Amino acid sequence: MLKDAQGLEVSTDSHEAVDAISSFTNQSLTYGKEALNVVKQGLLADSTCAMLHAYAAAHFLSQENEQANSQAIRYLQAAIKYSTNITEREKLYIKAISAWAIKRIDVAIALHETITDKYPRDLISVQQGQYHYFYLGDKERLVNIAQKVLPQNEDNYFLYGMVAFGLEQCHQYEQAEAMGRMATSYNRNDPWAHHAVAHVMEAQARIDEGIAWMESLADTWNDCNSMLYTHNWWHIALYYLERGNHQKVLQLYNTHIWGRARKDSPKDQVGAISLLLRLELRGVDVSEYWQSLAIYLLPRLHEHALAFQDLHYIYALARAGYTDWANEMRLSMYQHALSLPSYIRRQWLEVAIPVARGLVAYANGEYSNTVINFKQVLPRLHEIGGSHAQRQLFKQVYQDANLQLAPTLRYISASIS
Ligand SMILES: [Fe+2]
Repeated sequence: MLKDAQGLEVSTDSHEAVDAISSFTNQSLTYGKEALNVVKQGLLADSTCAMLHAYAAAHFLSQENEQANSQAIRYLQAAIKYSTNITEREKLYIKAISAWAIKRIDVAIALHETITDKYPRDLISVQQGQYHYFYLGDKERLVNIAQKVLPQNEDNYFLYGMVAFGLEQCHQYEQAEAMGRMATSYNRNDPWAHHAVAHVMEAQARIDEGIAWMESLADTWNDCNSMLYTHNWWHIALYYLERGNHQKVLQLYNTHIWGRARKDSPKDQVGAISLLLRLELRGVDVSEYWQSLAIYLLPRLHEHALAFQDLHYIYALARAGYTDWANEMRLSMYQHALSLPSYIRRQWLEVAIPVARGLVAYANGEYSNTVINFKQVLPRLHEIGGSHAQRQLFKQVYQDANLQLAPTLRYISASIS
């Protein structure tokens, strides 16, 4: 039995396979673009290593699209096949990934909590637990799963960035910034810690500091996967948006955001859609951008990987004039919601679907429908997941719909007085 760089036992006799697991851990914690390659390299050395197969499955599941899911299933089947003589931790992890694959996120979360209780050095399980909490909008447990293993990981500064992001989501800005800065001071190549501090500065409207912080670290992001590369630049774009420098925002969209995105990647698509809509809300004409983006959304219509993602897609489809696709997607969302287990059905039926209706209405200039649909769910927006900064978009849409309606309401009011 060999141990990986986190000191965790791995069921393999191959040093190359264990080195690959250590590299995968590092790639995951730095959001590196070589995560899958290092796993494949490890499998060349030991094709029977269950954990390498499970990590590959997790990598594909995190892509949150149907094609990647099929690949995840293949790796998961191999992980299960080779799981007869593996450790308890490895068995628990494979069960957690299996639960994710069948969308039993509640089960996956419980397993990651068990793993991190019993094996607190397993930061991949901490990270994946945080990921699930993020998309369930459970900020308290998002920070707890990282904080609880701090005593056993004082030497691992990646955990500090993970805690920092959780603290920021819980509005504990001072501690979040201190943790994020500490992580970065120990290791400048920690893009998730950069991101946590960026969130603090965004939340506190420290625009110039935010730009200076992120731009001073952006040179370290070249080895990031496209999700975090484009998302960190998205945060920089938000600062420039606050400054009113729309030209700069468009330039960043064309270079570091949609310009550098994997066009088929859901998370990259979401970031680009979010930025275009934010520009629109500032009165910038981005009409020419919608079609060139929305054309990539056709495979998304029936996926329903995450409610948070669907809301972005459906707006972009409606805004680009793909009305039939938007309608088809809305119906499909409803059917999907009915098929879900009860713990998550309410998130879709009572929050996501009214927001989807409101967004389509907004794209079509039907502002009263936007207001009607949004008003009832505003206090529950966190249930669709995403960060505060990301969800702020929906509140802005609601506020703008109200503003657009104001002249009409004044006119009606005047006509009856
Ligand atoms: Fe963010």
